[in-house]
Amino acid sequence: METKNFQKYCAEIVTKIDRKYKIERDAQLALSQLIEELGELAKEINRKKLRRENPDSKKLEDEFADVFLQFAKLAEMHEVDLEKSVLQKIGELKKEVIWNNPMKLLDGKKLAEKILRNVRDEVSKMKKKPVLAMVLVGNDPASSIYVRRKGAFCEKAGIDSRTFKFPASISEKKLLRIIGNLNKDKNVTAIMVQLPLPEHIDKNKIIEAIDPRKDADCLHPLNFGRFVQSGEKYSVVAPATPLGIVKLLEEYKVKIEGKNAVVVGRSNIVGKPAAQFLMNRGATVTVCHRHTKNLAARTREADILVVAAGKKHLIKAGMVKRGVIVVDVGVNRTKNRRGLTSTVCGDVDFAAVSKKASYITPVPGGVGPVTIAMLLWNTIDLTNSK
Ligand SMILES: NC(=O)c1ccc[n+]([C@@H]2O[C@H](COP(=O)([O-])OP(=O)(O)OC[C@H]3O[C@@H](n4cnc5c(N)ncnc54)[C@H](OP(=O)(O)O)[C@@H]3O)[C@@H](O)[C@H]2O)c1
Repeated sequence: METKNFQKYCAEIVTKIDRKYKIERDAQLALSQLIEELGELAKEINRKKLRRENPDSKKLEDEFADVFLQFAKLAEMHEVDLEKSVLQKIGELKKEVIWNNPMKLLDGKKLAEKILRNVRDEVSKMKKKPVLAMVLVGNDPASSIYVRRKGAFCEKAGIDSRTFKFPASISEKKLLRIIGNLNKDKNVTAIMVQLPLPEHIDKNKIIEAIDPRKDADCLHPLNFGRFVQSGEKYSVVAPATPLGIVKLLEEYKVKIEGKNAVVVGRSNIVGKPAAQFLMNRGATVTVCHRHTKNLAARTREADILVVAAGKKHLIKAGMVKRGVIVVDVGVNRTKNRRGLTSTVCGDVDFAAVSKKASYITPVPGGVGPVTIAMLLWNTIDLTNSK
């Protein structure tokens, strides 16, 4: 809402109150002055926000809330029992003034570059050089892209990566033997098995076969258990994707403590550990999944919404509240008419939801790059802990 409209609207409210309650002239004047002050503050907030000077505008928002409170108190003092509908309208107005500005992108690409520079620095100081072994089974195009991308990040960071590719027909026994050999290889300091694996292979058996001291993805029950029981500081490694999510939130100074966080998805690699991370940082967490009744009612309660369902545009604008902080983990590939992958999009309808969000991750360029950067940190930590 334009500031001019805001002031006009507030003036209308005062007239309405006056008409209804016939308040004294000086009280009316004081209320008008406060409204004028609110208008000025709103103007300032909008101006700062347009210039993306967020820390400052946050202070102004608090001031706005204070003046608004004074307004309500003064009205109460003069026994102006503000009608529920009037209060509701002022509330909506307040939200609009605060949130009708462009949302901020949680830029994962930028953060990943920053982390990569730190990783590179760290690697240059290490006596034992980190070596990440990546095991890729089958021809899933998405998995191949992920492994290639991880390899490219390793190269940028000065980490040696080795990819071991096998056909989808490989037996579980043979794959277990390969993992065993990588465990024994003194040069390999970290191992990552790209998931999903073909159906005839028991994923859990493979994960448990990885030496926990080389488990780059924090999938081994020993590492995952330590992380769940005592947090990431106790475990050498932490699950890379949710670790990336909290790093991204922390980079943008998003306060987690005391917030209502909703996580859509409960997988071992994203949903569950993401919920754990948020809980460890003091959020009240709700985890949703396929059996959740009325998903929209849950997601609308979220101050922080993490979505990892793998369902294109599952989250629409009507499913979030204004000012929500959205982390979209989903990676969905859409095909063009020739059946080729043309675009990648997330689980959140970005175009619509970003209009209501205060912060949101793009897809691509959000959680993905930070996840890889955190995988590299895990590789370094495993190498150093030997
Ligand atoms: N950017 C990255 O770095 C990164 C890393 C990992 C994964 N991803 C992406 O994140 C997405 C999720 O990955 P994942 O490995 O966690 O997938 P997953 O193992 O398939 O788990 C998906 C979760 O979403 C829930 N779900 C599915 N449809 C739902 C719906 N309509 N309503 C509510 N919940 C629903 C499922 O519920 P049930 O448990 O009830 O089935 C499940 O818990 C995928 O798109 C994946 O490609 C991205």
